[in-house]
Amino acid sequence: MLKGLAFGLCVLAAVAALLPLAITWIESRQARQAAGLEPYAAPAGPERHRSAVVYFSRSGNTALAARHVARRLGAELHALEVPAYALGVGGLARSALDAKARRDDPTRLPDIRPRTLDLQPFDTVWLGSPVWFYSPAPPIWAFVEHNRFDGQHVVLFNTFNSHFGDDQIAAFKARAMARGARSFEHRHVLRGRMTRQLSPADMLRAIDEAWFPAPDPPR
Ligand SMILES: Cc1cc2nc3c(=O)[nH]c(=O)nc-3n(C[C@H](O)[C@H](O)[C@H](O)COP(=O)(O)O)c2cc1C
Repeated sequence: MLKGLAFGLCVLAAVAALLPLAITWIESRQARQAAGLEPYAAPAGPERHRSAVVYFSRSGNTALAARHVARRLGAELHALEVPAYALGVGGLARSALDAKARRDDPTRLPDIRPRTLDLQPFDTVWLGSPVWFYSPAPPIWAFVEHNRFDGQHVVLFNTFNSHFGDDQIAAFKARAMARGARSFEHRHVLRGRMTRQLSPADMLRAIDEAWFPAPDPPR
C-alpha cells in the first residue's frame, strides 16, 4: 500500500517536472513555424497609415495574427518586447507569476519596450496579446497605461487556447476608455488546447472569416 502510494507520488512528481519542458518544446516549435510566415513591412511613402497594430507575443501566434491584420489594413506594426518572458522554462515561469501578480494587483506591470509610441496620426489602434490567466497578458495592459488613445477606436485582439474572462475584457475596455479611446471592440481567435491546435494557416483563415467578413453581395 505504502509502496503504491510512493510510486504514485513519484509519477506525479515526474509529470510535474516534465510538463514545463513539454510546454516549452511545443512553444518553441510553434514560434519557429510562425516566424517565417507572412513577413510584413508597412508600405513606405508619404501617405499616412490610418491604423496601427501594436502587439505582444511570446510564442509567435499573436505576432502572426498581428502581421496578418497589419497586412490587410496596410497598417503600421509595432512589437512590444519583454526579455524576461523569453521562450524557455524560466520565461514561462516569469510569465505565469507576473500574470497572476497583475490579476491580484493591477498596478503590477512589467517593463515593456517600447514604453510609448506616437499614436496620434492613427484613427484606429489594434492591440494584440495572448491570453494569460484568462486575461490579456501583462505587457498589453502596461502599454495601455503608458499611452493615450484620444479620440481613437481601439481594437483588442487575442489569441488563446481555451478560455478568457469577460470581466477581464470589460476591465481592459475601461482602461482603454480611461486613456482617451472613443470606442472599443474585442476580437479573438480560439486556437485550441496544446495537443490539437489550429495550424497557423487555419488560424489566419479563422481570423479572415470572423474579423474581416466579406460584405454581402449586392442583390
Ligand atoms: C503563462 C500562460 C498562461 C496562459 N493562460 C491561458 C488562459 O488563461 N487561457 C487560454 O485560453 N490560454 C492561455 N494560455 C495560452 C496562450 O494564450 C495561447 O497559446 C496564445 O495563443 C499564445 O500566444 P503567443 O504565441 O502570441 O504568445 C496561456 C499561456 C501562457 C504562456
